[in-house]
Amino acid sequence: MHNKQDELIKRKEKAKLGGGIDKIEVQHKKGKLTAHERIELLVDEGSFEEMDIFVKHRATDFGLNKQHYPGDGVVTGFAKINEKPIALYSQDFTVFGGSLSEAHAEKIVKIMEMAMKLGVPVIGLNDSGGARIQEGVVSLGGYADIFLLNTLASGVVPQISVILGPCAGGAVYSPAITDFIFMVKNTSYMFVTGPNVVKTVTHEEVSFEDLGGAETHAVKSGIAHFINENEIETLLNVRRLMSFLPQNFMDKPVDTEFDSENILPDERLNEIIPENPNKPYDMKQIINLVVDNNNFLEVHTNYAENIIVGFARIGGMSVGIVANQPEVLAGVLDINASVKGARFVRFCDAFNIPLLVLVDVPGFLPGTEQEWNGIIRHGAKLLYAFCEATVPKVTVITRKAYGGAYDVMNSKHVRGDFNFAWPTAEIAVMGPKGAVEIIFKKEISNSENPEVELENKLSEFIEKFANPYIAAERGYVDDIILPKDTKIRLINAFKILKTKVDKNPKKKHGNIPL
Ligand code: HXC
Repeated sequence: MHNKQDELIKRKEKAKLGGGIDKIEVQHKKGKLTAHERIELLVDEGSFEEMDIFVKHRATDFGLNKQHYPGDGVVTGFAKINEKPIALYSQDFTVFGGSLSEAHAEKIVKIMEMAMKLGVPVIGLNDSGGARIQEGVVSLGGYADIFLLNTLASGVVPQISVILGPCAGGAVYSPAITDFIFMVKNTSYMFVTGPNVVKTVTHEEVSFEDLGGAETHAVKSGIAHFINENEIETLLNVRRLMSFLPQNFMDKPVDTEFDSENILPDERLNEIIPENPNKPYDMKQIINLVVDNNNFLEVHTNYAENIIVGFARIGGMSVGIVANQPEVLAGVLDINASVKGARFVRFCDAFNIPLLVLVDVPGFLPGTEQEWNGIIRHGAKLLYAFCEATVPKVTVITRKAYGGAYDVMNSKHVRGDFNFAWPTAEIAVMGPKGAVEIIFKKEISNSENPEVELENKLSEFIEKFANPYIAAERGYVDDIILPKDTKIRLINAFKILKTKVDKNPKKKHGNIPL
């Protein structure tokens, strides 16, 4: 009997070595960890329950009948992060380059199906050469099975993809469907076709890193939501993200302890908006002063920086923040900012995370480049996302809220619950200069001194419209508040909104302008 137990122990030890010690060394030399080492860093100590450790591939061609590694290149199972259960898979590059066989895919599908029944998030650690070439169409089928599950699980449980090596070809579409993508600088890359194919087809010479490395996807394409220097930082950052999320669409994020009784007005908030309304300031100063413990987890930090999105806690309550950034392009909404904001709003709404919207927006970006690339369609995504969101939604207009962008940025009209304005708010159809040049065109040009007339009309307009009082008289803002009181007013608002219930009309699904 002991022999049988020893055999089991030996078999499991062998399986843990994946492709063997030599291959593990190669992996380490590349600055990469093994599938098991990554899991250990990601999950709460001792919480990992592995499944399907003995699964083998069933292929026989190209000598595969003689090459078997228990587990077949992917470690799957359940564990805990911050004491809450999750499902995970971790591809093992030391076994056939982490390539995806029929059996490998079945293991991933199995834990995803279970995760949906259990209502727990799925985290995929990706490090794979793609479809296992020797298995042909069977492995393509395996990918499609995963894509289907990613789609069915979307909006049911949070799905996180961590790219820790190659992710190429059709394989990129699994992470693309999931909610958040993490990448590591210099060791992970994603592309539909690699540099060689690019060279053949378009004659462009491009390196792996430039084509699909972490920086490229964090800055240029927006595919990567988070990038880090190394795998350890990356996995710890995944844990940090998880602390803001609920387990599934029926759950709510866990509140942390917070003593909101003793919050004092914060005078620093009174000093942020410059005297000159055209002078930029950093919206992140405001964010850092209103969130608990300066703990703001920014998403898409280096992509479309004219809008800021990310997670934080306010009074211990998890919130998603969407804010214009006057420091970049004056905080204007363009195509990339609209898409970035819309996807974030939809994630928060899908998973019951209340939204805080900080507004200082001069409008949508004009120009042929934007129009020809579809700012109408893409801007509509952000509008649609705010309109359909039924989670608690709180807005603070700090300065400009002009034109269509006023409506879009969680205005009262699109079901904002608490809409506050600072006394510096300017709510108008457009900026004073543009407005005056249109409505007083004749008076100005017929005047003996057009420049003086322009200044006079400008002062008149600013006096009348560049303030929040007209909107407040209509009830379009619920209150005008002193900046220093913002945090306590937000805590009160989000507390009141805890019992909010709102619904959209019954339908199969909406048709967001994609
Ligand atoms: C089978 C594979 C493999 C694959 C790598 N290996 N990719 N085996 N199928 N797709 C094996 C290698 O043969 C090698 O085995 C080991 O993994 C490590 O690979 P190396 O090439 O030595 O590693 P490295 O130099 O780091 O290069 C990594 C790589 C390269 C860039 C990923 O292996 C590569 O280009 N692989 C092919 C990538 C690819 O074209 N895949 C198909 C993409 S299309 P040994 O035994 O020598 O150690 C796709 C379609 C998905 O995936 C469709 C979804 C619809």
